[in-house]
Amino acid sequence: MPGKYKIDTHCVVEYDDQVSTKPHILPIYATSSFEMEGMDEAAEIFKGKNPGHVYGRYGNPTIDTTAKKIADLEGFGLGISAYAFMTSSGMSAISVLVQSILKSGSVIITQEDLYGGTTELFKTVFSQFNITTSQIDLNNHELLEQLLKKDAIPKVVYIETPSNPVCTCIDIEKVVTLCKKYDVMTIVDNTFCTPMIQQPFGLGADFIIHSTTKYLNGHGNSIAGVIVGHKENYRASIGKFLKLIGATCNPFDAWLVYNGLKTLGLRMERHSLNAKTLADYLNSHPKINNVNYVGLPNHKGYEIAKKQMKMSGGMLSFEVKGGFLAAKKMMNALRLATYAPTLGDVNTLVLHPRTSSHLNVNPEICEKNGITEGLIRVSVGIENISDIIRDFSEALEKI
Ligand SMILES: Cc1ncc(COP(=O)(O)O)c(C=O)c1O
Repeated sequence: MPGKYKIDTHCVVEYDDQVSTKPHILPIYATSSFEMEGMDEAAEIFKGKNPGHVYGRYGNPTIDTTAKKIADLEGFGLGISAYAFMTSSGMSAISVLVQSILKSGSVIITQEDLYGGTTELFKTVFSQFNITTSQIDLNNHELLEQLLKKDAIPKVVYIETPSNPVCTCIDIEKVVTLCKKYDVMTIVDNTFCTPMIQQPFGLGADFIIHSTTKYLNGHGNSIAGVIVGHKENYRASIGKFLKLIGATCNPFDAWLVYNGLKTLGLRMERHSLNAKTLADYLNSHPKINNVNYVGLPNHKGYEIAKKQMKMSGGMLSFEVKGGFLAAKKMMNALRLATYAPTLGDVNTLVLHPRTSSHLNVNPEICEKNGITEGLIRVSVGIENISDIIRDFSEALEKI
């Protein structure tokens, strides 16, 4: 090519990839679009008749490879062929999925103790588009059935289990069975568990979403989400909605998730082991009222968790005696655990839900669901457990 153009044109010209052997690791495709061989090829790809990438907002090899891996993990061993779309965040995964399967006038039936952002999205944003939300105890099957059969309007049941931050467990199989009777679809937020612990498709769920920002990435350096489905008749409409809303993930964040996935198995085992040990310690501490951890036999979700979760996971919350002031002292005294409003990282993280994730949720609903002013949420990391226990024990001495 040198000699063919003037030097300033040469600066601009795109070079062919100099790769002669396959990269060992999936590369980041930092390109906004893909070069077409010719008009005919482009037309076939645009029409969806031939596979291929065209424009980054529609997909990209880094993003699609990461999505495929997550779909394969969610469908692993279940004999189903799952598909997935990576999105710009967990919130956009929820928004795009709900909006692509529901219409104005539809109803979302869900629980009260959801991640605060999800409650806010349903209550304040979707309500503007005439999609209403009923929040009930999803383990109250009589009440659920009443809502499912009420009025012939499209509905979806949205489940988060274990819930954020009190770890309520919803019996997925029971809810799904009732929903199938009334032809209502189910979505499960599997962020807390990951497919290493819980596989909602095996329990009959129709869709799964994740904030991949959390455990799937695991290192606190990426914001992204994923929609996973297995019903082919929804695949094209979700893909189209995502493309037109423009909430696609970016290749760098997808790539970070892709890297994180490689250690997911190891991490989830260690998170679960550490969390159980910390939960046992906190559960017997005199300055603590109660501990919410699904691996504790006295937790209300223990039996359901045993049925549908392979391990107990890394999330717990506990209520210190002395309410808000005691919680504040405790949070400020922790040294190894970081106060950061996320979860699922290799580092131990703490959060005070009432002043952060649940700030905009009605205080009465919070109190009713155990999200009190003395509640602290812990995302137990993979550090040496003796260092984690020492940190909590020293902080508890200060209150
Ligand atoms: C259970 C759960 N679902 C969804 C989300 C939203 O994810 P993101 O922050 O990636 O948008 C969060 C965020 O904390 C969460 O905890």
